[in-house]
Amino acid sequence: MQISNPRVTIIAAISQNRGLGKNNQLLWKIPQDLSFFKKVTSGSPIIMGNKTYYSIGRPLPNRLNIVLSRTLVQHNIKIDGCEVVSSIKDAIALATNYLTLRKLTHFEPSEQPIDSKEESIILATHQLAEHNRLSNPYIEPEIFIIGGAQIYANALKNNIVDRVLLTEIHQTSDADVFFPVLEENQWQEVWRESHFDEQNNLSFDFVDYRKLTQ
Ligand SMILES: NC(=O)c1ccc[n+]([C@@H]2O[C@H](COP(=O)([O-])OP(=O)(O)OC[C@H]3O[C@@H](n4cnc5c(N)ncnc54)[C@H](OP(=O)(O)O)[C@@H]3O)[C@@H](O)[C@H]2O)c1
Repeated sequence: MQISNPRVTIIAAISQNRGLGKNNQLLWKIPQDLSFFKKVTSGSPIIMGNKTYYSIGRPLPNRLNIVLSRTLVQHNIKIDGCEVVSSIKDAIALATNYLTLRKLTHFEPSEQPIDSKEESIILATHQLAEHNRLSNPYIEPEIFIIGGAQIYANALKNNIVDRVLLTEIHQTSDADVFFPVLEENQWQEVWRESHFDEQNNLSFDFVDYRKLTQ
């Protein structure tokens, strides 16, 4: 009954020069992007590096939070509300067990109340869900890798990623950590949707890239 090889998806917001963050913070707080992230990842396991966890500052609700840290494991330090592991392999195994348990118990993530400001983002996530249904009739169990730069680079290098969901922000940034370049011949863009954020006065696209099978 164990789920085998669930889809592994990277989710990230990047600037034009592939910047991810600066001084252990995000470059911009874009409300629509934060809502998109919440909607897409809710109910699923999320894997993050130690620095990203401390940048967020708390476990994200309604998701299994898995934090990667060799140091914390070495010193047997726990984080309330999170699982701490010392390798991506252990993180994927833990996430897979969680998805299996979710399937066995028919666990459904609870619905959050809908804010009217979130309408456009709900439309985007519905369209993405619809697109997923068209490309695959079954809703797949999915593991999300949510950053930061070290974890994205490691996961891509180790060839464990099936899908990359990027928020591509059309502005350059003075970042100190960057997202790797995706090899053009290995990834195919299958979905793109454009948005504008009035608060930060910038435009951005949600983009879904799939790994091409060799
Ligand atoms: N734009 C976005 O979508 C986005 C998303 C997430 C994060 N960010 C940004 O990215 C920045 C943080 O990224 P970062 O690269 O500095 O740090 P990070 O990837 O979040 O965390 C790095 C830490 O993770 C642990 N680690 C790394 N590789 C590991 C492995 N293979 N196995 C076990 N543990 C491992 C190590 O922790 P120990 O030293 O404790 O062993 C390492 O110090 C921040 O600015 C954050 O705001 C941006």
